[in-house]
Amino acid sequence: MGLFFPRSYSTPGLCQSLAMLSPAGHLLSLLLVIGTGGTVPSPWVPPQGCYMAEEAGERTFRCSQAGLSAVPTGIPNDTRKLYLDANRLASVPAGAFQHLPVLEELDLSHNVLAHLSEAAFQGLAGTLRHLDLSANQLASVPVEAFMGLQIQVNLSANPWHCDCALQEVLRQVRLAPGTGAGIVCGPGARPDLVGQEFLPLAGEEELCGTGRGGAQRSTDVALLVTMGGWLVLVVAYLVHYVWQNRDETRRPLKRAPVLPVRSEDSSTLSTVL
Ligand SMILES: *[C@@H]1O[C@H](CO)[C@@H](O)[C@H](O)[C@H]1NC(C)=O
Ligand SMILES: *[C@@H]1O[C@H](CO)[C@@H](O)[C@H](O)[C@H]1NC(C)=O
Repeated sequence: MGLFFPRSYSTPGLCQSLAMLSPAGHLLSLLLVIGTGGTVPSPWVPPQGCYMAEEAGERTFRCSQAGLSAVPTGIPNDTRKLYLDANRLASVPAGAFQHLPVLEELDLSHNVLAHLSEAAFQGLAGTLRHLDLSANQLASVPVEAFMGLQIQVNLSANPWHCDCALQEVLRQVRLAPGTGAGIVCGPGARPDLVGQEFLPLAGEEELCGTGRGGAQRSTDVALLVTMGGWLVLVVAYLVHYVWQNRDETRRPLKRAPVLPVRSEDSSTLSTVL
């Protein structure tokens, strides 16, 4: 293997000098091969259909319509804008973008996303500003996924369940301008909500006040009221007790001077001893 010369070094000059140094030729060629082919790291090739670019001075990584079914690996860590739209992504796993510490814009629109991990956007809290989840298959998303993010999000064109979870998400994020009307309840929603715009509904109905979450909340309230009731009873009893016994509690003070009785007792005790 060491005898093979890399093509780039077979210039006449180099050949001549190597021929002159024939005893050292083997060694030199070996060094050349080791020094070039051996240490050059194989450059990372973006997945087919993906390419890197500078857009307005910002590192951009575009993988639109690349037929991806998973978030590609090896995306450069200085990427600020990432376009993964129009692929076949079905879910976003935990920490999918956590190796992209300066990511500002993420486009996941026009995929088949049905599931987001609670930690899908982990590590992006300080930087992510724009997130496009529109035109997917999301019926609900975990509110935890958006905790701590200061983002504008596009949630249009998904088959939303229009439940408490979505109401909580909308309290957590800001919608991209003009995208509110695109949040429409899908077939899995409560029958009377299917096909309706979510925002007007959420404005007039407290969806977290019904169903499982609502039941939990009313249990909490009942518990609180019961505990409050007990507290009032205990305090009332204490007040009553103290009021009733206030004369008796004063008596020992009046009795205090009449201690000789006790000293007599103790003296009798000492005489006994
Ligand atoms: C990207 O990774 C390299 C090497 O691991 C590191 O030196 C660099 O600071 C990273 N860049 C960012 C923006 O984190
Ligand atoms: C939001 O998503 C819809 C559907 O993909 C798209 O038509 C619209 O332009 C998007 N709006 C913004 C502000 O991103």
